[in-house]
Amino acid sequence: MADTEQDPLLRPMPDGVVPAEEVARTEKHWLTMMVAMLGGMMAVMVLTGMTTGIHPPSNVETIDPTTLHLGGEFAESNLGTAQEPNGSLTARLIAEQYAFVPECVKVAVDTPVKFRLTSSDVVHGFLLPATNVNTMVVPGFVSEVRTRFSRPGVYRMPCNEFCGNGHHGMWSRVEVVSKADFRALAPTERSSCVQQ
Ligand code: CUA
Repeated sequence: MADTEQDPLLRPMPDGVVPAEEVARTEKHWLTMMVAMLGGMMAVMVLTGMTTGIHPPSNVETIDPTTLHLGGEFAESNLGTAQEPNGSLTARLIAEQYAFVPECVKVAVDTPVKFRLTSSDVVHGFLLPATNVNTMVVPGFVSEVRTRFSRPGVYRMPCNEFCGNGHHGMWSRVEVVSKADFRALAPTERSSCVQQ
């Protein structure tokens, strides 16, 4: 007789209640699945790191967020895309509630590009979809991401870190243009998407 079973967990259950062994079996299945997913995600991190240069930003560089506008690297005249003596490009941007400054930067295709960003207020995020560019922008620190665009196009860049009421509207653009088109741009045109 079931009622004589001493262990209450092993007594027959009323309809709709799952027996303990089945709970244990299901838990084990889900646990296995979770461990497999963790393993899968680790593998994705290692593989993308080795094959497409995706890695966590490792640059630790501090800056005073209260004096960005007064001078130094992130003064207004230094923002946007600059060409280095070796031909590579450096794009400097400030993230602030609720915009990136400048709102648009142009860079050349097939050229090493270094993005340097910092925030003047709270934490923002800088993400270029379908590239290896994805970093937090933290006040007090300079975030640096290196990449290279293989074809021309327009990347819409969302702020991907919740930064306040206007977060959803914090969008900007990176335009990748041909090397010849880039050479033809005046320095001010590299940081503007106004159509000429
Ligand atoms: Cu800036 Cu969200």
